[in-house]
Amino acid sequence: MMAKGRIITIIALCVVGFYSVLADNPCLQGPPVPKNAAECCVTPFLVEPSAFMTCHSKWIGQTKRQMALEGIPRGCCVAECVMNSTKLYSDGKIDREALTKLYLGSTKTMASEWKQITLDAIDGCFKMADSMKDDIEAGAKLTPAFEGEQICHPISGTILACMGMTLFAECPAKLFTVNDDCNKLKTYHSKCPFS
Ligand SMILES: *[C@@H]1O[C@H](CO)[C@@H](O)[C@H](O)[C@H]1NC(C)=O
Repeated sequence: MMAKGRIITIIALCVVGFYSVLADNPCLQGPPVPKNAAECCVTPFLVEPSAFMTCHSKWIGQTKRQMALEGIPRGCCVAECVMNSTKLYSDGKIDREALTKLYLGSTKTMASEWKQITLDAIDGCFKMADSMKDDIEAGAKLTPAFEGEQICHPISGTILACMGMTLFAECPAKLFTVNDDCNKLKTYHSKCPFS
């Protein structure tokens, strides 16, 4: 539970940039309640927490530094590292078929509803990334803003953040913990990434 909650949180750190370019950002204040999303609904996942934490420790320092930068949103190296660890990323592209297999694999021990929800989420997220192609490409072409900055391709962070938000939003009612805090969190995350 703890670990999964952290995963969601950290992936979101990487995409906050997409929202801060909007003038009227409804997400700046952060979540309305101090509750972990995983306490409200456990969603399908791409990699085990340990694989995630390896990438997190390696890249979070850089990611935090990048968050202070303005301009075109930068790619998230934590997310790219996660994609690399499963060999899903290469040359600006995510292997959609392999990603689908991994997400579906995680649903095997979960409620059967998750399968179709996950397939639909993947479809929606790849369409969304496609519609943002120009911004994503621009982010990939950035040059280092500080010494040692590694430029990662924004596609990984875009897909992972979208999957996190979508799966949480689509959590079947019977699997969602109904209480005031969880309901508020659901409304918030319907438009804001995990952060
Ligand atoms: C991911 O793999 C690519 C090679 O396919 C490499 O260029 C890139 O630096 C790797 N990204 C991270 C964050 O390790």
